[in-house]
Amino acid sequence: MDLDKKITYVTRPIVPSINDFIPLVEELFASGQLTNKGKNHELLEIKLKALLKASNCLLFNNGTSALLCALKAFDFPIGSEIITTPWTFAATPHCISWNGFSPVFCDIEKNTFCIDSSKIENMITKRTRAILGVHVYGFPCNVIEIERIAKKYNLKVIYDAAHAFTTEINGKGIGTYGDISMFSFHATKLFNTLEGGALTYNDGSLQKKVNNLRNFGICSEESVEDVGINGKMNELQAIVGLLNLKLIDEEKRKRKILKEFYDKSFSNVKGIRIPKMPQNTSHSYQYYTIIVEDEFPCSRDKIYDNLKNKNIFARKYFFPMCADYECYKDLPSSRPENLPVANDIKDRILCLPFYGDLDVTTANRIIKIIEKLKNE
Ligand SMILES: Cc1ncc(COP(=O)(O)O)c(C=O)c1O
Repeated sequence: MDLDKKITYVTRPIVPSINDFIPLVEELFASGQLTNKGKNHELLEIKLKALLKASNCLLFNNGTSALLCALKAFDFPIGSEIITTPWTFAATPHCISWNGFSPVFCDIEKNTFCIDSSKIENMITKRTRAILGVHVYGFPCNVIEIERIAKKYNLKVIYDAAHAFTTEINGKGIGTYGDISMFSFHATKLFNTLEGGALTYNDGSLQKKVNNLRNFGICSEESVEDVGINGKMNELQAIVGLLNLKLIDEEKRKRKILKEFYDKSFSNVKGIRIPKMPQNTSHSYQYYTIIVEDEFPCSRDKIYDNLKNKNIFARKYFFPMCADYECYKDLPSSRPENLPVANDIKDRILCLPFYGDLDVTTANRIIKIIEKLKNE
């Protein structure tokens, strides 16, 4: 096969075998209960709670509805300010806005690309109610410092852990930090339920509220207490989740090998920086990112275009960044002078194809294409 014709995307979802899937679907169809907390849903919730080492875990039909409910759970007044990062997927600031709050963008750290906790305190006003950090690419936010600030100013801490499935800090599940954390099980994520998500939290008193919010606010047959939405995961999603859970360890093992291969190859390429996980933190192996520094003779965009010309689709993740979106660019916090690191990184970062079944030939080609540009 002509290698240049082979299409390679940045990721590829794990999927269960059809032979395992069909009998469960047959059983599901015979049962007649397709959604509303069926038996697969209940089982997946229990298994994920254990895997994520969480005190509480509730499933959702996607990460966005989960994050919408997380932000809604604290009854912040309309117009509240939520300090967050511009370095994330659109869903993060949009969930803030859909709740009637204002996102306030804080700059990011150069090494982890997470919100820079040393810049948060300066941004707190009378209207600030929460900090919404994103463990981007699976790198953890500075959870200790964020907790200190939140306690000092009486703020809630919400984490978008969409990229951080099974990441741990000092052996503790990442979803146990802060007041509430959201996971996404979208097809592009390490673990997927086709579409799906979950919230984890320590405080059991949130259970009733979050449970109501994901089910239209309905709390019993004859009472509706909250303005909720339909956030329920269905049984087909849960079946895929239960089967995919069995594949996670193997997928992570393969991604670890691929990461080591990339790391070793790029260690000799001057001007390509590989971000490192902080100590005592385990990896989610969600993305493989490189930073194209000034010493590299060509730009990130040239690398991207060269790969694309060979049908290898890396991602300029996140480009455009949230603070540059039409709907957020006029916010005072979006001004480039307030976000120097994010504005620098946005032209340098590239996510390379990264998934368990990426073959060695393709990984080698990617490295060779980049190495060749070093000499141009
Ligand atoms: C950082 C981040 N937050 C939120 C989401 C939204 O999750 P979902 O697609 O499951 O709604 C995604 C991705 O999909 C994401 O990457």
